[in-house]
Amino acid sequence: MSAPKIQSVRGMNDILPDEAEFWDMFEETVRSWLASYGYRPIRLPVVEPTPLFRRAIGEVTDIVEKEMYSFVDSLNGESLTLRPEGTAGCVRAVIQHSLAAHQAQRLYYIGQMFRHERPQKGRYRQFHQVGVEAFGFPGPDVDGEQILMGARLWGDLGLAGITLEINTLGEPGERARHRAELVSYLEEHAELLDEDARRRLYTNPLRVLDSKNPALQDLIAGAPRLIDHLGEQSMAHFEGVQQVLRDAGQPFSVNPRLVRGLDYYNLTVYEWQTDRLGAQGTVCAGGRYDGLVEQLGGRPTPACGFAMGVERLIALIREAGGETRAEAVDVYLVHQGALASRLAVGVAETLRDRGIDVLYNCGGGSFKSQMKRADVSGAAFAVIIGDDEAAAGEVTLKPLRAADDRVGQQRITADDVADRIISLTADWEDA
Ligand code: HAM
Repeated sequence: MSAPKIQSVRGMNDILPDEAEFWDMFEETVRSWLASYGYRPIRLPVVEPTPLFRRAIGEVTDIVEKEMYSFVDSLNGESLTLRPEGTAGCVRAVIQHSLAAHQAQRLYYIGQMFRHERPQKGRYRQFHQVGVEAFGFPGPDVDGEQILMGARLWGDLGLAGITLEINTLGEPGERARHRAELVSYLEEHAELLDEDARRRLYTNPLRVLDSKNPALQDLIAGAPRLIDHLGEQSMAHFEGVQQVLRDAGQPFSVNPRLVRGLDYYNLTVYEWQTDRLGAQGTVCAGGRYDGLVEQLGGRPTPACGFAMGVERLIALIREAGGETRAEAVDVYLVHQGALASRLAVGVAETLRDRGIDVLYNCGGGSFKSQMKRADVSGAAFAVIIGDDEAAAGEVTLKPLRAADDRVGQQRITADDVADRIISLTADWEDA
């Protein structure tokens, strides 16, 4: 009997080579887009102390209440957590290394996040984010710039129809006054609340406004609005962000019910959405979190950022007809016979020295079967070495997808093969 197979953890996906090559191309586009805005990479641990997330994201959030993969380090009893998002760890690192002490910072990270959610299309337990964070900029200009960055990336990726919703959450004092009024309003209508809303009434009443329950929509529509409690400065900040968007011709809608699922935000929040991915249509989201650096023990530092879901964006690119066009190797190296195989190793290395990608046939096989593999590989050329060629210090060069019929199979010295391939390729490209 064969041994039982082990499957991947539910909601945690393998990304197989065809897909992974697509991811690589996506990341390349993303990294050059980020560089064009002056953002620099930061690489952060996947595991952080649990209190970091409890303090940053908030005790009464879905993430902290039920979605974290936490475990006790058996060596010292410390509670650790697989990061459910990247902002908290990034802020920790900024504080720990005094990165924002003397100058503003624009940082980004790409990597796995972990949330114990119910898996469905577009929602996974291990997923990937590109996260972008700026520290040290208090004004609305950077909020605006970050939002416009998103718009540019959608263009670079060939994506249309991603819409933008923005809102302001004001400052903590303003929120507290609104919250008090909201709680009494909800109390007055307690009989209309569902179980979730009742549970959140005193812990996180703002989230009640985010409820998707159709039975609550009238109640929500009549609820006191945060925007009516905002002071002049908060309103000016919000207006400043909108001005940047309007000046750039970026369409948006203000959604006063947009509250986000993490507690660290103040002032600007926003989400980019598509209706092409079913229920999980938010591809990117973020906002300002001016209080978080101080809350985690650093000096007060204004900050704002956003993160996008890589799985969702890639699904959207695919949905829009984006193709994987993985680069095939340039040369498949076919060889047979002891002497030929030894020469072939050297030829392969010489070609690579010249920047030519080579797939060296491993595992033997007849010339015929090796030539089949060469065809399947998509290589532009086969370089063929039998004992005959090897004895003469030569190779046979065979174009496999000649754009020009005049280029036929040719026998040349091993020393000349790199130059010949380079010149043939240049001819093809010119043709
Ligand atoms: P978030 O809204 O929790 O924000 O996540 C950002 C994006 O990650 C979502 O819009 C979605 O595209 C993707 N995402 C979230 N959960 C999943 C999941 N289970 N499966 C697949 N994709 C998912 C944050 O994480 C904040 N740290 C964003 C931020 C950065 N705010 C300021 N700076």
